[in-house]
Amino acid sequence: MEPALPPGVRFAKPDDILRLGIVSFESFIGTDCFDWMWIDPNEFPRDVLASEIAVWEDVLVKGEELLLVIEDDYYPDENSKTSAVIDVSGIDWQAPQPGEKVIVGAISFEPNRRSPRVANHCQTTDLSEYPDAPAVELLALDADHYAQLLDSIKEHKKRLGFENGFNIELLVVHPAYHRRGHARTLVKWMQDLARIDQVTVYVAADGKSEEFYARLGFEVIERLEIPGDEITPEGCRVIMMQWLPGEP
Ligand SMILES: CC(C)(COP(=O)(O)OP(=O)(O)OC[C@H]1O[C@@H](n2cnc3c(N)ncnc32)[C@H](O)[C@@H]1OP(=O)(O)O)[C@@H](O)C(=O)NCCC(=O)NCCS
Repeated sequence: MEPALPPGVRFAKPDDILRLGIVSFESFIGTDCFDWMWIDPNEFPRDVLASEIAVWEDVLVKGEELLLVIEDDYYPDENSKTSAVIDVSGIDWQAPQPGEKVIVGAISFEPNRRSPRVANHCQTTDLSEYPDAPAVELLALDADHYAQLLDSIKEHKKRLGFENGFNIELLVVHPAYHRRGHARTLVKWMQDLARIDQVTVYVAADGKSEEFYARLGFEVIERLEIPGDEITPEGCRVIMMQWLPGEP
C-alpha cells in the first residue's frame, strides 16, 4: 500500500533529467553545501549544469532511491529568480509555453534496506532511454571541500543509523516556485509512506533548510559544522535531523 500521489506529483522518468539538472542548479546555488563545494560556479555554468544532470541520472540508473517530481505552470522569466547562470544551448531541453506544466521540484530518498519500495517503481538502467547530456568536467569543483563534506556526512549518517529509516538524499524546488507548498507536498507524501512502514525519516539538511524541516516536524539530532577557510570563509553547516512516524 502507498499513499495516493498528490496532484502534480509523479515518479521521475529518464526524459526528466535535463530539466531536473536546471532545477537543482538554480535551487542549490547559495546553499551552504553548494557554495562549499563549488568555486565560482557561474564561471563554468555549463559544467555545473552537466554535473547536476549527472547526479539525477545516477539516481535513476542506480535505482536505489525513490525519485518524485512536482510540476507547476511554467514561468518564462524563472531564471531571473536565481543567481545561477543557466545556459541550455548544449542540451536538448525545450522551454514550454508560458503556463504549460513543467517540473519545478523533486525529492529523492532511499528507503531502509529491507524495503521493497524502490523495486516497485519505474527506474530504468537502460542508458539508451536517457537524453544526451554534456560531458562533466568538474572544472569549478573544489575536490578537497567536496571529499571532506561527503566523508563527514557519510560518517554522521552511519553513526546515527540513517540506513534504518527513509533517508532524504535530494530535495529541490526552483526559487521561482518557492513558498507555494511544493516541498511540503513532496516531503509529506514520503512521511505518509514512512508512517505506513513505521520507519523514521532522516535528512542531512543543508544549514539554510533547517527551518523548513522544523516546520514539517523534523527535530535536530546533531549539527555538523565545517569551519571556514581562506577559500570559503563561511564554512558549511549540515544539520542531522529526524522525523518519527508517530509525529503529526
Ligand atoms: C528548502 C526548500 C526545498 C523549500 O521549498 P519550498 O517549496 O519553498 O517550501 P514550502 O513552500 O513547501 O514550505 C513549507 C514551509 O516551510 C517554510 N519554509 C520554506 N523555506 C523556508 C526557509 N528557507 N526558511 C524558513 N522557512 C521556510 C514555508 O514558509 C512553509 O511554512 P508554512 O507552511 O508553515 O507557512 C527550497 O527552499 C530549496 O529548494 N532550497 C534549496 C535546496 C535545499 O536546501 N534543499 C534541502 C537540502 S536537504
